[in-house]
Amino acid sequence: MFASLTVSLGYILLAVIAVGFILYAIASRTSARPELGSEIELAANRKPYYDDEVLEGRRLERVQFIGLLFLVVSVIGLPLYWILEPSRQEGALAYSDKRAIGWGKDLFKVTSEGGFNCAGCHGGMKGSGGVAAYAITDPKTNLVTSVNWNAPAVNTVFYRFSEDEVRFILVYGRPFSPMSPWGLAGGGPMNAQQIDTLIAYLTSIQIPRVGCAANESNPLTCPTGTLPEDKMAEIAQSALSAVDSGRYGSLGEALYNLDLDSGAYSCARCHTSGWSYGDPGKTAQGAMGPNLTAGATASHFPNEADQIAFITKGSELGKKFGLQGQGSGRMPAFGNLLTQEQIKLIVEYVRSL
Ligand code: HEC
Ligand code: HEC
Repeated sequence: MFASLTVSLGYILLAVIAVGFILYAIASRTSARPELGSEIELAANRKPYYDDEVLEGRRLERVQFIGLLFLVVSVIGLPLYWILEPSRQEGALAYSDKRAIGWGKDLFKVTSEGGFNCAGCHGGMKGSGGVAAYAITDPKTNLVTSVNWNAPAVNTVFYRFSEDEVRFILVYGRPFSPMSPWGLAGGGPMNAQQIDTLIAYLTSIQIPRVGCAANESNPLTCPTGTLPEDKMAEIAQSALSAVDSGRYGSLGEALYNLDLDSGAYSCARCHTSGWSYGDPGKTAQGAMGPNLTAGATASHFPNEADQIAFITKGSELGKKFGLQGQGSGRMPAFGNLLTQEQIKLIVEYVRSL
C-alpha cells in the first residue's frame, strides 16, 4: 500500500515536472523569438539591468523565499523518503513473491490450460495426489503393459524434502517413472527460473503446519511443525482399518504400505518395486530406495534407534547415515508426517522381514 502511494506520488511529481517543462519551453519560445536586428539592441551584456532598488527589494525576498521553499522540501522529503522506503521495499518483495507463485501456477496447470500438466497427474491445482497413466516395458520379455502409477501428493512435499531436494526431483525427474525430468540439466524443457517459480507455487500450496516454534513465522515451511491433527488422524485411521479388514497383518505393515493421498506417506512406493502401479514385487526388497529387509538393514543399522532417527530426518546429500551409508537426499523425512510411535512400528516391521 505504501509502495503504491509512493509510486502515485512519484507519478504526480513527474507529471508536474513534465507539464512545467513544456510550459517553460512554450513560454521561452514565444518570449525569446528574436526580432530582426535584435541581437544588437538586446545583447545580454548591453541590456540595462534592474537598479539596486529593485534588486534588493521584493526581488531579493522572492528569491530567498524560493530558496527557503526548496530547503523545506529537501528537509521534509528526506525523512519522508526514509519512512516510506522500507515499506516500499517490502511491498516490492511481496509483489515479486506473488508474481513468482503466479508464474509457477501457470506452469503447474493441466495441458489444456497451457501448463505442463503437473496438476493432471498430481491431483489438481492443490496437488493432493493422483494417478498417471504409464507404459511399462518388461525388461525380460519386452512386453509393454499400460498401468496407473500413483502420483504422490505434492501439497506435503516440503514436509518430506528440503528445497534443494525438491529442485533435484523437478530437474531430474524420477527415472523409470511417469515423473519426467523438467529442468534443462535433466533434459527437460524448463530453465532455472521456471523451476524456481514451480518451487514457489509448490510452497504456496503446502498444507499449513501446526505447532511451529515461536521463532518460525511461516507455517507453510516451518521445520518443527507437523501435519494438522485431522490429517494425522486420517493416517492412523487408514492404517487401522487396513489391519481390521485383514489386508495387512500388523499396523507396521499397514503404515509401510499406507496408500493415503496416492502413497505420499508410504515407504512401499520407493522400497517395494511395482507397488506404485498395483503390481508389487517382494516387499521392501528395494526399488528406487534400497532393500530394507532384516539382512540388508541389520548391517547398516545395528540398532533400531538409529534407524528410527534416520527415517525421522531422512537423508541429506553427502551426509553419513547408519554405519557406512552416505545420503543422496532422496530418502524423505517422515518426522513431520508420522508419529515416532508409527515410525517405530514400521521399523519393527521391516526389521522382521
Ligand atoms: C505424467 C504424470 C506426471 C506429471 C506430468 C508430473 N508428475 Fe510429478 N510425479 C509423477 C509420479 C508418478 C511421481 C512419483 C514417482 C515415483 O513413484 O517415484 C512424481 C513425483 C513428483 C515429486 C516427488 C514427490 C515425492 O514425494 O516423492 C514431485 C515434487 C513432483 N512429482 C512434482 C511435479 C511437478 C511440479 C510437475 C510439473 C512440472 C510434475 N510433477 C509433473 C507423475 C507426474
Ligand atoms: C521417495 C522415495 C522414498 C520413500 C517414500 C522412502 N524412502 Fe527410504 N530410502 C530412499 C532412498 C533413495 C534411500 C537411499 C538413501 C539415499 O539415497 O539417501 C533410502 C534409504 C532408506 C533406509 C536406509 C537403508 C539402508 O540400509 O541403507 C531406510 C531404513 C529407509 N529408507 C526406510 C524408509 C521407510 C521406513 C520409509 C517410509 C516411512 C521410507 N524409507 C520411504 C527412498 C525412499
